Amino acid sequence: AGADALRADLAGRRVVISAGGTREPLDPVRYLGNRSSGKQGWALARVAAARGADVTLVAANVDLPAPFGVRVVPVGTAEELRAAMLEEAGSGGGAAADVVVMAAAVADFRPATVAATKLKKDSASEPDAVPLVRNPDVLAELVTKRTPGQVVVGFAAETGDADGDVLAHARAKLARKGCNLLVVNDVSGGGVFGRPDNAAVVLAADGTATDVPHGSKDAVAAAVWRAITPRLA
Ligand code: CTP
Ligand code: CA
Repeated sequence: AGADALRADLAGRRVVISAGGTREPLDPVRYLGNRSSGKQGWALARVAAARGADVTLVAANVDLPAPFGVRVVPVGTAEELRAAMLEEAGSGGGAAADVVVMAAAVADFRPATVAATKLKKDSASEPDAVPLVRNPDVLAELVTKRTPGQVVVGFAAETGDADGDVLAHARAKLARKGCNLLVVNDVSGGGVFGRPDNAAVVLAADGTATDVPHGSKDAVAAAVWRAITPRLA
């Protein structure tokens, strides 16, 4: 990782990374959210900036200072994250990014309606269920709208289950999403959320799988960049 940081091999490259976790409002004070801290996305941004890239972080509810030299675009909901990522990736016709990384935890569903005023409890009855609707799949849309030569990277936290092990689920997800690389975290043994360390397997659309040994999120970030750089045009 040290040697990688000394090379400005990403100079002139435009990199867009989503980080954190979306929050989907129920009313003016409440939301459905997740525990993603943004640390892995931040580490990816730090490594890329240190190697000379022009880096934008689309940050969903991240409570971390901006990495040196990195532009941060704050967003709240999945819809806001989608709009910012499509814009920054260049899918809308702006400057195209060379690399697009979806490290954010995007809520799969959001409340179907957002109350304009604070929801009140009714002392006489139990609450109604909250109807949910599906959020857009930002990664899949970025893949569909990928600009020529752009490398699109997804993340997935998986556990094995009756339908298959972690890698089987991950390979199916990579095929479903159509991205160039999928960084897979095995979360069977408990959460990685908020922790400084991580371990992963990087799956590539060409079938290769690269083990990333357990280490800091910076070390995982360096390994992810090692997988990305040979795929740049
Ligand atoms: N993702 C996205 N938009 C969504 C959901 C997920 O862009 N609405 C992205 C994530 O940022 C991540 C990748 O897709 O890079 C995989 O996320 P994951 O939650 O593992 O995949 P899902 O397709 O939502 O499948 P699952 O049912 O396992 O949650
Ligand atoms: Ca999901």
